[in-house]
Amino acid sequence: MTATPSMEDYLERIYKLIDEKGYARVSDIAEGLEVHPSSVTKMIQKLDKDEYLVYEKYRGLMLTSKGKKIGKRLLDRHHLLEEFLEIIGVDEENIYDDVEGIEHHLSWDSITCIEAVLEFFKRNPEQLKELHAIRKKLEEEEQ
Ligand code: CO
Repeated sequence: MTATPSMEDYLERIYKLIDEKGYARVSDIAEGLEVHPSSVTKMIQKLDKDEYLVYEKYRGLMLTSKGKKIGKRLLDRHHLLEEFLEIIGVDEENIYDDVEGIEHHLSWDSITCIEAVLEFFKRNPEQLKELHAIRKKLEEEEQ
């Protein structure tokens, strides 16, 4: 059921790998995105052409400053959405897949609004309790 990963998925993944391990190998990218290594190679060529990264066969892959900037923005967005779903009470086991499913379909406008809601609940823990109480009630009604 997984959709073909977009350019954004690749940039996010590559940024995360380099951030955590210091390098991004084709095999690690392929594994994370559940695609064939040949698809990764094709996308890397495209990202190289669009100047998001520089790929040299023996030295590996390096993000350009443009690639780093966007990669960081995409990863931050991913984390923001995870935090948002977590705070509103989404079940832990659904969070990662749900974020992967929606992150590329929201406008930056929506992202900013979600960020504001998140901040609102962080500043108003009482309201957050009320939200969770409503959620619990809905759940009980469904049963
Ligand atoms: Co993501």
